[in-house]
Amino acid sequence: MAEIVFQSVTRNFAATTAVDGVSFTVPAGAFFALVGPSGCGKTTVLRLIAGLERPDAGTIALGGRAVAGAGRFVEPAQRDLGMVFQSYALWPHMTVAGNIAFGLGLRGLSKAEQRARTHEALTLVGLEGHADRRPHELSGGQRQRVALARSLAMRPALILLDEPLANLDAHLRQAMLAEFRRIHRQAGTTFVFVTHDQNEAMALAGLVAVMDRGRMQQIAPPQELFSRPASAMVARFVGQGRTVPVEVLGADGARLRVRLMGRDLAVPGSAPAGPGWLCLRARDLTLELAPGQPRLAGRVADLRFEGGDYMLSVDLEGAGADLIEVRSAAPVEPGAEVTLALSGGWVLPREALAPMALQPAFEVA
Ligand SMILES: Nc1ncnc2c1ncn2[C@@H]1O[C@H](COP(=O)(O)OP(=O)(O)OP(=O)(O)O)[C@@H](O)[C@H]1O
Ligand SMILES: [Mg+2]
Repeated sequence: MAEIVFQSVTRNFAATTAVDGVSFTVPAGAFFALVGPSGCGKTTVLRLIAGLERPDAGTIALGGRAVAGAGRFVEPAQRDLGMVFQSYALWPHMTVAGNIAFGLGLRGLSKAEQRARTHEALTLVGLEGHADRRPHELSGGQRQRVALARSLAMRPALILLDEPLANLDAHLRQAMLAEFRRIHRQAGTTFVFVTHDQNEAMALAGLVAVMDRGRMQQIAPPQELFSRPASAMVARFVGQGRTVPVEVLGADGARLRVRLMGRDLAVPGSAPAGPGWLCLRARDLTLELAPGQPRLAGRVADLRFEGGDYMLSVDLEGAGADLIEVRSAAPVEPGAEVTLALSGGWVLPREALAPMALQPAFEVA
């Protein structure tokens, strides 16, 4: 197990700042997911941890040991970590057991120790009966598990996984998510899992970091990212949130008072007075008019059949916002005027605050 600490780490490639002054701490033994759109810097963060890239500024420590920055650099082979990639990179001419034992042999472990560790790793990933097969005799998911077993057999303090499920079909990916969680629990090793799929990250990890354009937007447990997004980017990226511009007026008991389309609403949130975003998901809105709840007027722009009922896209005309989504048991034709009851949502500041210095004037949940 190894704690990971990044302090103000920057990595530039010519004109691109791939990682821009990033600071975070991953506790030892955590399952940490790094998520964000293509090109946001996830792989670069992973390569910085591995020692395959050097930071241009800032420092990196693994397990309490400084490994990069401030004139220090520890080579990848000396960092006690394993990597698993999207392409499994197995030797095609070797058996499963041969692939796993190969690195152990390079380390100079005895044949008996190699056999014991190979057996242990294959048992952990549920492939005990497949030791003598060759990679082409395995399914994609089984190959990915061999790649993971090969890393686990080295018993590293830290395993880095870069989009390891990207080559698998949706069904297999689901099954592998459960497998990865079980293997992480049993192995107790720190896992850093990179993906561009926020559902995958939320399903797997205890701690999720959302990156955008080289910066960390928010690092939090999945539930908190979903219900208390710190920026508009996170609100949109996680759980298909929609953001509506509002004016934050102040605190109102346990909620924030915001003005939207000339109405005052009381909504949970964390923002200073001034321009803000209201993050809304379909589950925050209903077409029924529950008495006492604030209402919004809009016009149906589109509808689609989804999960047994209809998802309406509604234009809050005049709000200057995206179309927002609401479920309806019955179809409602585009053009129809509807009234929405608001039962949830989250208010955040319009101007992104520095994630590490998030000190809103009002914070209520
Ligand atoms: N060796 C390199 N030389 C030049 N630019 C690079 C290099 N590696 C990465 N970049 C750039 O740095 C940025 C971040 O790249 P990175 O591979 O970390 O993104 P990513 O989040 O892993 O994306 P993806 O989800 O597509 O894998 C991108 O703009 C990329 O083009
Ligand atoms: Mg990548």
